[in-house]
Amino acid sequence: MVELSGSVLLLDPVLSPAGGPLYLQLKRWIEAAVEAGAVRPGDALPSERDLAAKAYVSRVTVRKAVQHLVRDGVLIQRHGSGTFVAPQPRRVEQSLSQLTSFTEDMARRGMAVRAVWLDRGVYPPSPEETIVLGLSAGAQVARIARLRLSADTPLAIERAALAADILPDPEAIESSLYAHLGRRGNRPVRAIQRIRAANLGEADARLLEVPAGSAGLNIERISYLASGRAIEFTRSIYRGDTYDFVAELRLDAQPHNGPRR
Ligand code: GLP
Repeated sequence: MVELSGSVLLLDPVLSPAGGPLYLQLKRWIEAAVEAGAVRPGDALPSERDLAAKAYVSRVTVRKAVQHLVRDGVLIQRHGSGTFVAPQPRRVEQSLSQLTSFTEDMARRGMAVRAVWLDRGVYPPSPEETIVLGLSAGAQVARIARLRLSADTPLAIERAALAADILPDPEAIESSLYAHLGRRGNRPVRAIQRIRAANLGEADARLLEVPAGSAGLNIERISYLASGRAIEFTRSIYRGDTYDFVAELRLDAQPHNGPRR
């Protein structure tokens, strides 16, 4: 798990004079780190002074960005102890799903899968990949992009980024990424997944063999080893007409005392 303090100090935020008010740029930068799941609810924000030094802005600018994030419910301030990433709504934290791979999901439905490789290689990481995967300076990232099909029906496009020390040779993956990681003792044990509705852009729609603008689902998964290290950052786009997401819901056995946060 990347600590917010760690990730913020890992990389200089790219604030540009042409990018609008600096406090808003800094606010968006912190928000992106929270949204990407690179930081967990409850993590402490670095001090105002550290943030100002890192972002080359004044402490007044940092204070303004933080005030807006507190107002938006992204951060909370506790008197005397500092500023923290706010707890997420309970429904998001209570994942009852299992961490399965695409191959396993499909096998459970009796469907065989295949992939058309769109890309695989080792690259210098993007700033976002650096933050999400907590990469140190000079570290490389392995990227794999696949069109995933069952029989001849394209179901999803998946673009994954993994730290290159976890996946040094993307060419060695036979079909399942998780099976490959498992053989190396690096199968993730936990993941944060976000699902959003989307309309398919032209290029993705062409690959998925549906008209541009069709309904789709954007799925972002950040997965972690038992050590807490984030190793996978995957963005997938699923065809809306072919894939169901099903969650098993149970009555909570433990009654809750006090307010839920
Ligand atoms: C799912 C997840 C991806 C993950 C993939 C692994 O589709 N959304 O984040 O990378 O499974 O699947 P497989 O092991 O079949 O390559």
